[in-house]
Amino acid sequence: MKPVLKWAGGKTSLIPQLIKHFPQSFNRYFEPFLGGGAVFLALDQAKKSVINDFNTEITNLYEIIRDEPRQLMRELDLLGEKYSEKFYYELRAAKPKLHVKKAARTLFLNKTCFNGLYRQNSRGEFNVPFGKRPRLPKIYERPQIMELSKRLKKTKLLNLDFEEVIDLAGPGDFIYCDPPYEPLSVTSSFNSYTFKGFNKKDQIRLLEASERAVARGAQVAISNSSAPFVKKLFRNWELVTIVSRRSINSKGDRRGLVEEILAKSY
Ligand SMILES: C[S@@+](CC[C@H](N)C(=O)[O-])C[C@H]1O[C@@H](n2cnc3c(N)ncnc32)[C@H](O)[C@@H]1O
Repeated sequence: MKPVLKWAGGKTSLIPQLIKHFPQSFNRYFEPFLGGGAVFLALDQAKKSVINDFNTEITNLYEIIRDEPRQLMRELDLLGEKYSEKFYYELRAAKPKLHVKKAARTLFLNKTCFNGLYRQNSRGEFNVPFGKRPRLPKIYERPQIMELSKRLKKTKLLNLDFEEVIDLAGPGDFIYCDPPYEPLSVTSSFNSYTFKGFNKKDQIRLLEASERAVARGAQVAISNSSAPFVKKLFRNWELVTIVSRRSINSKGDRRGLVEEILAKSY
């Protein structure tokens, strides 16, 4: 299955490269930094999974896809009828209270904003400009929403800090982490998925929580940039180089080949 959200740092193009390094067999699958969920959606549907993101916009959208998919699509159709630049900015400024309307706003803005970027200002408000597509782009595919709805009914969906989620994993479980990446240079990187950001202390917290999970018998794989800080942090893990074609960064759509790493505890 493909993601319903277009997500900065989305892993769709790296899935074959990543999955071949995942353990052959494991008990439950954990993904504490879900984002667009590309990796979770590419994996075996029968696996028991625990997915999480700190960003309530994302988890609310997935909860609504799980519980009220038809109402969501109806809301999206209504928003689509009003498509224009002016309407985009009205919707961006709106703060719907009803969860289904909030979810429709999230998905609609994601598909009509500039480059599928998700960014918040210091007050935690979504602040990406209009994508300027002359006609309404495809916002959703009905069969995909219905299939995801079924899949999410069998999945544990959480809205916590990653550490609390990793602490739930036990013997035989596999945890794949795709955290906001450590910047390669001060200006190069986009990692403000939430206004709180993600800093070196968080990267260290991630390593420590992962090592606790490994000590309990879980296996962990973590994606990150190839920044020297990351390589040093994971010096006792096996590091695999993954070559990615980055299409979203702070400058919009600069494209190029970038080496990143997958750190494996196994
Ligand atoms: C790189 S994205 C994940 C991309 C995703 N794997 C995909 O393929 O689309 C990182 C995600 O981590 C989430 N995040 C940031 N800080 C977090 C935290 N402290 N705990 C849990 N999730 C967090 C962000 O909301 C963002 O969705």
